[in-house]
Amino acid sequence: MKDRITEVLLQEIDALTKEEIEGLLEVPKKADMGDYAFPCFRLAKAYRKAPNLISQEITEKIKEKNYDFIEKIENVGGYINVFLDKEGYAKSLMEKICQDNYGSSDIGKGKTVCIDYSSPNVAKNFHVGHLRTTIIGNSLYKIFDKLGYHVERINHLGDWGTQFGKLIVAYKKWGSKEEVEEKGIEELMKIYVKFHEEAEKDPSLDDQAREWFVKMEQGDEEALSIWQWFKDISLVEYKRIYKLLGIEFDHYTGESFYRDKTQAVVDTLNEHHLLVESDGAYIVPLDEYNMAPCLITKKDGSSIYATRDLAALFYRKDTYHFDKCLYVTGLEQKLHFAQVFKVIELLGYDWYKDLDHIPYGLVSMEGGKLSTRSGNVIYAEEILHESISKIYEIINEKNPDLPDKEKVSRIVGVGAIIFNDLYNQRIKDVIFNWDKILNFDGETGPYVQYTYARCASVFRKAGNVDIDSVKDIDYKVLTEESTMALIKDIERFPAVIQDAANKYEPFIISRFVMSVAQHFNKFYHDCQINVDDENVKMARLKVVRAAMNTLKDGLDLLGISCPEQM
Ligand code: ARG
Repeated sequence: MKDRITEVLLQEIDALTKEEIEGLLEVPKKADMGDYAFPCFRLAKAYRKAPNLISQEITEKIKEKNYDFIEKIENVGGYINVFLDKEGYAKSLMEKICQDNYGSSDIGKGKTVCIDYSSPNVAKNFHVGHLRTTIIGNSLYKIFDKLGYHVERINHLGDWGTQFGKLIVAYKKWGSKEEVEEKGIEELMKIYVKFHEEAEKDPSLDDQAREWFVKMEQGDEEALSIWQWFKDISLVEYKRIYKLLGIEFDHYTGESFYRDKTQAVVDTLNEHHLLVESDGAYIVPLDEYNMAPCLITKKDGSSIYATRDLAALFYRKDTYHFDKCLYVTGLEQKLHFAQVFKVIELLGYDWYKDLDHIPYGLVSMEGGKLSTRSGNVIYAEEILHESISKIYEIINEKNPDLPDKEKVSRIVGVGAIIFNDLYNQRIKDVIFNWDKILNFDGETGPYVQYTYARCASVFRKAGNVDIDSVKDIDYKVLTEESTMALIKDIERFPAVIQDAANKYEPFIISRFVMSVAQHFNKFYHDCQINVDDENVKMARLKVVRAAMNTLKDGLDLLGISCPEQM
């Protein structure tokens, strides 16, 4: 409400900012001085008038506007005293939040955002770290989409590089077609590890691997067909995870997509005299900017990760004409992106300002750090399935007759993981604690989903009234504190989405849906909904509908669905 009154005053006062007005707005100690009081003394200088004259003028202007949430407004000795009309306020709030697609906007209309996320490394397992970029990236896509932006969802697969030379050598020496076909990535990882063990004893293996990668870069048919096979096998596993998460991409343009586009990068850098030779390799020195140099080509002339990222940027700018290009990866790639963005700046492109790296923290379980190299790897798929089966057990115990138990467990099990992942600032580490994640009463996904299902059950009990088509609802009856608190909370939705987009922070959405769920449960506890008084019943049902829509839309922005019953 304070915000509302600030807005009202802002309309009449051009000498102060919104923040200044908000800062000055007081809550008087005595009720006869209104719900809010605004002192006009600070305005005397700007308007060259006595404060009580100013307050009188502003009071008159506000009176003329007849705001339905202001019962009375008075001018007393330089103060503007505002008395709220709770009934009118409830009505104006409800009319606002019951609009279609409340929360969405078109501020992004005509603008394109590229989001580069997920991007696992072919022939390597999809671990919980990749799960984070996938979940965060998908949520950012939904948020920008809601604001009217056009989004290009890009999976920049790690499907090129010397590691494939090693894999080919390993496969030729120790692999079998049947094993790879049967076990997939697991088998590829196994022979990859073996390569490293053997290469320690026999360094010539590394030379062979380099040769095979050079062959790949030169388009050698045999090399490319083995590589393509490894890639296809890996994609089958990744796509299984995406399906489980309900996530899609517009482009699977991985690093290999740019293999014929890296020479152009080298040429452009040369034209701008940015390339310097260093021990046979070529680099862009960045010491002036306190950064290690950006490596562009290796001694053997092959391209690297950064070269392909530069090529990808030129391609994306030319193809999608993006207004923003975002990269969701772990914090450890901070330097890499700083280097790539700096090179774009040095090339004189002002759109380097539109590039952002969106880092996130680590995932850990019971205190132990997880990393790909230590062998202590947690597979994303395993975690998701474990969550689903644990939820299944809980449902089986609490609500054994629930229809579609499997489907509900999938929605809730996956939702629990996503919600936990997005409940704190990205940069904070995520800690897996099953009891916490799956608690139906805690600050969890299942709790919010359960609240949604509770709303749905209210409607079932009310005989499925089609509340959306009921006209002339008397919102004035909605004055209880917990009802007001709930609808005031829901009102924040559009601002919350905007804030989440500006900061690239899905946790702002998850905190919001949690707050709405908590407010709803308080309201549900305090106010009976299926009462005899039709007037009250319809108004309250409308509140339930607004909460229900908001929970659903809010969870959707996180990539979580809602079961109607659980
Ligand atoms: N494949 C990389 C990894 O798994 C992430 C790629 C991020 N995107 C990019 N354009 N570099 O760490």
